[in-house]
Amino acid sequence: QKQDISFSVIPNPSPVPAAEREKLLAQGGFGTVFTDHMVTIEWTEGRGWHDAQVRARAPFSIDPASSVLHYAQEIFEGMKAYRAEGNSVTLFRPDQNARRFNLSAQRLAMPEVPEEVFLEAVERLVDIDRDWIPGADGSSLYVRPFMFANENFLGVRSSRNFVFCVIASPVGNYFKGGAKPLALWVSTEYTRAARGGTGEAKCGGNYAASLVAQMEATENGCDQVVFLDSAEHRWVEELGGMNIFFVMDDGSLLTTPLGTILRGITRDSVIQLAKAQGIDVKEAPYSFEQWQADAASGKLREVFACGTAAVIAPIGEVRHRGGSFTIGNGQSPVAEKLRDQLVGIQRGRVADTHGWLRTI
Ligand code: COI
Repeated sequence: QKQDISFSVIPNPSPVPAAEREKLLAQGGFGTVFTDHMVTIEWTEGRGWHDAQVRARAPFSIDPASSVLHYAQEIFEGMKAYRAEGNSVTLFRPDQNARRFNLSAQRLAMPEVPEEVFLEAVERLVDIDRDWIPGADGSSLYVRPFMFANENFLGVRSSRNFVFCVIASPVGNYFKGGAKPLALWVSTEYTRAARGGTGEAKCGGNYAASLVAQMEATENGCDQVVFLDSAEHRWVEELGGMNIFFVMDDGSLLTTPLGTILRGITRDSVIQLAKAQGIDVKEAPYSFEQWQADAASGKLREVFACGTAAVIAPIGEVRHRGGSFTIGNGQSPVAEKLRDQLVGIQRGRVADTHGWLRTI
């Protein structure tokens, strides 16, 4: 589906002075402050992608019958842009987001966005709003490409119109507690995804379905929920919004296998970084029962969460209906080393030997 897309640009000079932006960011928390522009591209059956625009960020006007409001035909991505040397900006593995976006599109019966169009949309937005990228360590510009069905139609079939959009939000740490180890709540009641379902797709519905379990986690004083598999409620899958890794006493890493979990780009980067330094990494099923036994015996040294928003976040405690347990001795040297390497590459302090950065 090769298409020539030309972007029209209608600039919206920033009304928010730089000092104000930092203040907004400090007050607001993750994903509450937005840049001045957005990119929109429309798709119509028979015509394909058209009307690519870079313009002032503004509300959409959609009809109450718009299909996304009824049947949730929607997908999204999350990626970060970092301030780099000079006035340049780097994106971390944006090609992987473009690829995953199209896997999600296939699963949700949506049109694919050609990779080069996806990347151009992201780069144009980051470029025009580059002054919004916070410079402080631990902060970045979170870029959110997404697509939704927009046909006014109540029958159940794939839409004949879609909107692809990219917005951006300057962010700091995803968790309010900063670098404090996280507490997890294991949900033994709710599950996130079944085989053959949409678990691997980054669709809004997966996150909507996670909220009630995430609320249960919060009520129990935890930062994130852990989902177990839907067939047996036994095997660890992932957290509400991130993947999970276990560090064993022989130095090896274990993470849960793909299939019903989100195909994390940070997950993949951690696997590659670990393997490159000779660490054995297994992608294998791990039961909640085994997790408890390994925590008790001392075989399990560390557990950490990872994701674009979360980066790499050590986990200190696990709670569930039957009680709670702690992980290791409260230290997370393996998670911290991996985080330093990953963040180092992203911020240009460590050589990008994997070719992960794209400079704009
Ligand atoms: C991300 O890490 O980019 C996500 O989409 C997950 C969400 C917790 C923001």
